[in-house]
Amino acid sequence: MTHKLPALPYSYSALEPYIDTRTMAVHYNMHHRGYVNNLNNALSGYEELQEKSVVELLYDLDAVPEEIRATVRNNGGGHLNHSIFWTCLTPNSGPLPDNLATFIDDSFGSLDAFKAEFAKAAATRFGSGWAWLCVDEEMKGVVIATPYQDNPVSQGLVPLLGLDVWEHAYYLNYQNRRGDYIAAFWNVVNWKSVNASLQSVQAAADAQKLAEKVQSTWDSLVTGLGSLLGGGE
Ligand SMILES: [Fe+2]
Repeated sequence: MTHKLPALPYSYSALEPYIDTRTMAVHYNMHHRGYVNNLNNALSGYEELQEKSVVELLYDLDAVPEEIRATVRNNGGGHLNHSIFWTCLTPNSGPLPDNLATFIDDSFGSLDAFKAEFAKAAATRFGSGWAWLCVDEEMKGVVIATPYQDNPVSQGLVPLLGLDVWEHAYYLNYQNRRGDYIAAFWNVVNWKSVNASLQSVQAAADAQKLAEKVQSTWDSLVTGLGSLLGGGE
């Protein structure tokens, strides 16, 4: 597959004044496009890797040959991170859907406690990187920060909400005031989209639970049949 720059779901100016037009244009058109091009260049000649999605590539980086692993990690991560980021933003933020509000309350105690933890992760990420709200294996919300363009899928976590804290994401408008950029971010979070991602994970987990239940019912049925048919000692 050839990886493609996804369309932005809004105009460059839509997130003003929180994220300015020039930053959006450069960020999307130059930075994200660059990651996509570099990823495709790195994969040329590796047909088996071209079959994989960017999530599959990053989930199992050990399967990527060493000579291109760092390039795929950085540019595949750059592509996936920004693809997630654009969908996490909207000019019409609105309230949290109930399902997401419950998930955040259960995981962090309150929305304010979650925001404080997330903002701290974003503010204290030294140098370039990202802050994330993810779902872990227990279906709980966790906040992490990743360096450079690393994506949480490489740690086995599913990202729901990401914030780019590379200087290219805010420097034109905020210069060194990363804290102001993080505070402004909350005005343009697309909670509906975050909730849709959460619902996909919840549905997949429910399907897996059901499959496990069917398997264990089947196992006990077969085991029961085995002894009935004859097992005997
Ligand atoms: Fe970025």
